[in-house]
Amino acid sequence: MDQFLITGRSRIAGEVTISGAKNAALPLLAAMILAETPTTLNNVPSLQDVRTLIKLIEGLGITIEKNGNVVTCDTSTIENYFAPYELVKTMRASILVLGPLLARFGEAEVSLPGGCAIGSRPVDQHLKAFEAMGADIKVENGYVIAKAPEGGRLIGCDFSFDMVTVGGTENVLIAATLAKGTTVLENCAREPEVVDLANMLVAMGAKIEGIGTSTLTIEGVESLKGCEYSVVADRIETGSYLAGALMTEGDVTAKNTDPSLLIPVLQKFEEMGAVVTTGDDWIRVQMTGRPKPVDIRTQPHPGFPTDMQAQLMAVCCLAEGTSTISENIFENRYMHVPELKRMGADIQVDGHTAIVRGVEAFNAAPVMATDPRASMSLVMAAAAAEGETLIDRIYHIDRGYENVEEKLRGLGVKIKRVNPVTDNAESEEANNG
Ligand code: EPU
Repeated sequence: MDQFLITGRSRIAGEVTISGAKNAALPLLAAMILAETPTTLNNVPSLQDVRTLIKLIEGLGITIEKNGNVVTCDTSTIENYFAPYELVKTMRASILVLGPLLARFGEAEVSLPGGCAIGSRPVDQHLKAFEAMGADIKVENGYVIAKAPEGGRLIGCDFSFDMVTVGGTENVLIAATLAKGTTVLENCAREPEVVDLANMLVAMGAKIEGIGTSTLTIEGVESLKGCEYSVVADRIETGSYLAGALMTEGDVTAKNTDPSLLIPVLQKFEEMGAVVTTGDDWIRVQMTGRPKPVDIRTQPHPGFPTDMQAQLMAVCCLAEGTSTISENIFENRYMHVPELKRMGADIQVDGHTAIVRGVEAFNAAPVMATDPRASMSLVMAAAAAEGETLIDRIYHIDRGYENVEEKLRGLGVKIKRVNPVTDNAESEEANNG
């Protein structure tokens, strides 16, 4: 299993080009299943999760190819509507094929994702909404077996999500585009990745109103056509590299990104003492001295994103004073805490809240990555630490960050991939993201 060996005391500085967003690419790939003519998706990041979803779509008999960062898809060769446990268990976002299969072909059999490192993460809201649209949903032997009502088409309805769910909003939005009549979805997620999906669906011929708000109104159409579309920039990748500047008195410019998608994150960077400058498609973060402590509460967009919590916690570990972090999206997203503590951090967790007392420096220690974002917090901590840090299970980082070593090296991080032993646990238990 690959590990990273990082020699610390680096100043993270330079330019980094941001890739397409993992969490936008996945629903966009699933939405391609809706189109009756070929679709081309540009700016698709080369990541393990993207490869997993492509394999799953290929398993349906669909012709899908990835060349560099371009994916083309022709659904005319589809043979079945089945997503097996073997693939779904390695990536929860696989559940996103349920909506398009059910909406276009009237049936689907998709394995239920299991639990994952950051929480139990049920999909009850997805299923409840499909039922409200007239689908017959059964869960048998770990599989969701879904059938559209008589006539093979879902029926538009009014549905309000019990909680804000990104994947739930995406799955149901995709399905509603081909439903009979109008669907009104309330309490929708407003994440930029949901907006990106809605924009691509519109380019395919869908009729959606309220894009970017918590109420989406979708007038179902008979069919959708292919289109050419480009994945939005990855705001979490952007924020992750910029956070490195705050930990190492660095100076990072992220290019090919969108500052308007990172407002809550950039605001925290400024509160911590960084100088943030932005242009249309770039962000520069310059830092001198130790960060100031802050209070962070993760919330659905436009609040502070849970996917930046671990990276900001690593910054707080080096702050001059005590920070408070409250994780409100996932029940177990503090897996990085014991690892950061191994590196000398002073963190106390009580339920959803972490109290982080700043220390002067991290020390190197062998640590273990648990999910893509937790992994990035450890990488940044290692770059700042005194000595050599060995990070195990870095396949998690490969799931979420394209060309991560190359980009980190470009920013001055002394990083080496080492591959000492084989461990069968690799990617088998990876199910978050
Ligand atoms: N939830 C339910 N029932 C549902 C759906 C969600 O109880 O039917 C709960 C979840 O258990 C969780 C909360 O609602 O506590 C929010 O979950 P959500 O559905 O919004 O998350 P997701 O769609 O599974 C996506 C991202 C995550 C990101 C979250 C929140 C993708 C592929 N994943 O997950 O990304 O943290 O939204 O913004 O888009 C990552 O990239 O590292 C990652 C974990």
